[in-house]
Amino acid sequence: MNFPATVHISNHPLVKHKLTLLRDKKTDPKQFRELIREITLLLAYEATCDLEISPATVQTPLSEAAGFKLKEPVGLIPILRAGLGMVEGIWEMIPFAEVWHIGLFRDEQTLRPVAYYNRLPIHPTVSLCLILDPMLATGGSAVKTVDILKEWGANRIKFMGLIGAPEGVQRLSEAHPDVPIHLAVVDDHLNEHAYIVPGLGDAGDRQFGTG
Ligand code: PRP
Ligand code: URA
Repeated sequence: MNFPATVHISNHPLVKHKLTLLRDKKTDPKQFRELIREITLLLAYEATCDLEISPATVQTPLSEAAGFKLKEPVGLIPILRAGLGMVEGIWEMIPFAEVWHIGLFRDEQTLRPVAYYNRLPIHPTVSLCLILDPMLATGGSAVKTVDILKEWGANRIKFMGLIGAPEGVQRLSEAHPDVPIHLAVVDDHLNEHAYIVPGLGDAGDRQFGTG
């Protein structure tokens, strides 16, 4: 599969190992949530490698030391419900990141995203928006979320997911070529219900024990 350079697929052995456990249908919701948090933390390391920093000094026990501090306010945009589980993983690295929830579900007949929750403030309060959703299937939910954020005024947006389908990666990168996509893996295909195969099933149900 050839994707544009803005599509980043992790090659990290820990990501591969943990993703395999995540897919396993025997993995229970508690372990599933822990794995989502851990994989997200690993992906965040790669997805935040271009965060802006500014010089800062600290006093060590011996002398002054030149260092850096993060300059950019970071916003996490989990797509409800399944994106919620990814927040904790990034908060471990960026505890001061703001979280702005977007509620979308996929209509099972039309497969179109239906928006049901949005409490974004009138003007953007962050300079980098990280959209969080474990599953990039048809890409409808991700494209809609980027549309919402761009209308809001966000101008630096990245998408972070765990498993993508080729169809979803292509749709998001064509609709929003300026939005980098960070994934653990791209799977084989979508089935007739637009579920990712082999995938992991329903990411929301498996996290929240509602399947
Ligand atoms: C899942 C998933 C994405 C969407 C992906 O959410 O978390 O948001 O489907 O599908 P798409 O790429 O075809 O739009 P779902 O609609 O199942 O809602 P949930 O998270 O509340 O379970
Ligand atoms: N949503 C999921 O949770 N899983 C899929 O495979 C597709 C959409």
